[in-house]
Amino acid sequence: MREAIRSLIIEKDPETTRLIDLLGRRSGSLDVRWTAGSVEEGAGMVRKFRPDMAIVEVDGNPASAVGPLSREFPNLYILALSATREAEYALETMRAGAHDLLCKPVREVDLSIAIEKAQKARLRKEPAERRGKIVTVFSNKGGNGTTTIAANLSDALATDHGKRVVVVDLVMGHGDVTMFFNVTPTYTVLDLARNNGKADPEYIDSLIVRHSSGVCILADPPRIEDADKISAEQVRDMLATLRSTFDVVIIDTPHQFDEKTLAALEMSDTVLLVTLLNLPSLKNTQRSIELFARLGIFDDRVKLLLSRYLPNDEIPKESIEGIMNCPVFYAVPNDYPTVLSSINRGMLLSEIAPGKEVTDAFRKMAELLVGPAAPREARKRKRGFLEKVFRLERSAS
Ligand SMILES: Nc1ncnc2c1ncn2[C@@H]1O[C@H](COP(=O)(O)OP(=O)(O)OP(=O)(O)O)[C@@H](O)[C@H]1O
Ligand SMILES: [Mg+2]
Repeated sequence: MREAIRSLIIEKDPETTRLIDLLGRRSGSLDVRWTAGSVEEGAGMVRKFRPDMAIVEVDGNPASAVGPLSREFPNLYILALSATREAEYALETMRAGAHDLLCKPVREVDLSIAIEKAQKARLRKEPAERRGKIVTVFSNKGGNGTTTIAANLSDALATDHGKRVVVVDLVMGHGDVTMFFNVTPTYTVLDLARNNGKADPEYIDSLIVRHSSGVCILADPPRIEDADKISAEQVRDMLATLRSTFDVVIIDTPHQFDEKTLAALEMSDTVLLVTLLNLPSLKNTQRSIELFARLGIFDDRVKLLLSRYLPNDEIPKESIEGIMNCPVFYAVPNDYPTVLSSINRGMLLSEIAPGKEVTDAFRKMAELLVGPAAPREARKRKRGFLEKVFRLERSAS
C-alpha cells in the first residue's frame, strides 16, 4: 500500500476539517496531521513540518490564499477547497498555483479522486525532484568556532563527497566566510535576495565565488546597514532557490535570534548548535534549546556540536546529551595553533594541515551528515559532470 499523504489543512470551518480528516483516515491514503486557521499560520507550518500536501480553503480570494504558498513552496501539492463551483473561479484558483480543486461540501468520492491525483503527482515528482539539504551552523555566543565549522565542513562535503556545496554568510555586514576562504566577492546575498525571482542556475553561478575546493560562497553584504535591506521573507525565498540548485546549503549565522536567522533555522534540515564544553557556554546553549522548543523547531533536526573540545573530568561529554536532552552530533577537537594559522592564512584546514586530528574531524562530520564518501573514481566522474554544468574552474590539485 502507498504511504499516506501527509497533509495540512488551512480552513476556518472545523466541521469541514473534521470531515476531511475522517474521510482521509477511512481511505488510508490521507493523513491530516496539521491544521491552520490562516494562510500565514499555514505557511509557518509548511516551513516547519514540510507536508506533502496543503488543502487550502480559497473562498473569497484564491490568489491570496494559494499564491503565497505556491510561490514559497514550489514542491508543495496544493488542493484548493471551495464552495463555489463556477468555472471562472476554478480557473483563477488553478492559475494562482493550485494543483486541484475540491468542492464543498466534500464528498467521499471526490476526495478519493483528489487523493489519487495527488499520489500520482508525488510519484511523478519524487524521482526528478532536486532538493538539497540546508545545514545551519548556529551558536548564541560569539567566538565558539561557528565559521570555522561552516567553512571546513563545506570543504569536506565538496572535496570528499563531490557535493555541490554553497556557504551562505548570513552574518550580514560582519561576515567572515570570504576571509576564511580568502576569496573576493563581487556580489552578495543582497543581490540574490533582490533578484530571487529571476534566479536560475546561471544567474546564481554569476553571484557566487568559487573556491579551489569546489565550495561556492555567497558572501554577506559589504555594509552593516545592508542587513536592514533584506527581509526574512527574502531569506526564505533565497534559501529555497539555493536548495534547488545545490546539494548542500551551509549557513553561517549571527549569534542573535533575528528574524532572518530564525527563517534559516526553520528551513533547516539540520541545525548544528555549536557549544563549548564549559558551564557558561552550556548555559547559553540550554537557553537556545529552550527557545527552539518554544518556536517549535526543537526536534531531531537540532544536533549539538562541541567545538574546541578538550576532554575534561568535570563535565564529561557523555553527560551533556542527558542534561540538554539533545544528541551530541560530534566533538571538534581543540587545536588552537592549527585553526588560528588556517584563519590567518586564509586557507582551509585540509590545505594547511591534512591528516591532523582537527582536519579529520570535519571529514568524519561530513560522513555523519551524508554517509560514506563514494569511491574515488566515481567522485571524479561526478565532478566532471558538475564542472560542465556549473562551469567550475577548479585549480589543479
Ligand atoms: N577547533 C578549534 N580549536 C581551537 N580553536 C578554535 C577551533 N575552532 C575555532 N577556534 C578558534 O576560535 C576563534 C573563533 O573561531 P570562529 O571565527 O570560527 O568562531 P565564530 O563563532 O564564527 O566567531 P565570531 O563570533 O567572530 O563569528 C578563532 O580564533 C579560532 O582560532
Ligand atoms: Mg563567525
